[in-house]
Amino acid sequence: MDVRAAIDATIRVEPGAIALVRCGFAIAVPNGYEAQLRPRSGLASKSGITLVNSPGTIDSDYRGEVQAAVINLGREPFEITRGLRIAQLVVGPVSRIEWNEVAELQLPATAVASVTREPCDRRQQSEFADVLRGLILRYQRSCKPVSVNFRRIVPGLTSSDRFTHFVHPYPAKLLVHIPYFFLASDLLSKPGDVVLDPFCGSGTVLFEAQLANRRAYGVDANPLARLISRVKTTPLEVVAVKQCLDRVLSTIQSEPLGPPPDVVNVEQEVCGADLPGDDPLFGKLRGVRFSLRPR
Ligand SMILES: C[S@@+](CC[C@H](N)C(=O)[O-])C[C@H]1O[C@@H](n2cnc3c(N)ncnc32)[C@H](O)[C@@H]1O
Repeated sequence: MDVRAAIDATIRVEPGAIALVRCGFAIAVPNGYEAQLRPRSGLASKSGITLVNSPGTIDSDYRGEVQAAVINLGREPFEITRGLRIAQLVVGPVSRIEWNEVAELQLPATAVASVTREPCDRRQQSEFADVLRGLILRYQRSCKPVSVNFRRIVPGLTSSDRFTHFVHPYPAKLLVHIPYFFLASDLLSKPGDVVLDPFCGSGTVLFEAQLANRRAYGVDANPLARLISRVKTTPLEVVAVKQCLDRVLSTIQSEPLGPPPDVVNVEQEVCGADLPGDDPLFGKLRGVRFSLRPR
């Protein structure tokens, strides 16, 4: 709504000057709402008259008279007369935010999706390509399986480097060094190529393929494996994930216990391997795992 100047005498505002103009009323804004006093576009475009603190916020606990802090940004003096429509008032809801303090901000999902990286430096790429050529040659000559120690070939990978692979248990997880090695050089596939894992399990190959800038597709007979793979290869926003986890954890304890999921090795997947450390997140997951224990 438009707000008028409720003044007894005309106010002359010189160029560059500020005047506090009484509006002649007070309001009680309901909790959860705010009122905003904004300039009128006609006055601003014709005479350079605007509000110096635009938008002027009127909180729900303010009970004083509404006043407009007018500034003259024009070149000529401006006269405010009684009853002149000097500003407009808009009322709207206020979002209440609970802030989570973090050391570092996460990239938004769209940005994460577009992050690409070199799988390893160029010198290592060419070393891995030589090793791979050598292995292929040995196989071609002998036509017998070649025994390979991938941990020895790729010594630099640590679990903290690849923690995403370890946040969930899954039986028969592939050693992460294997896809890393085959994807490090462009001997078998190049960045941008499709990598298909027809037994994708918990998505070790798929995730490494993504990190090596390939397009990853996976198939698996186990629906839980497909789910884990999808989670691991879908960029997520940490804050949103934590909110979902909190929702699940707050409802799960009051839900009746159902039968365990019908998948192979469910004892291993749901109740098996130890979760690391004293992190509160893992503490919560341990609690959930206990409540899901198959009977
Ligand atoms: C050793 S895991 C694969 C690991 C996976 N390549 C990775 O990168 O982590 C073997 C997977 O094959 C799946 N599997 C077994 N028989 C299958 C079939 N006939 N069709 C599709 N998937 C199958 C199992 O469910 C299991 O998840």
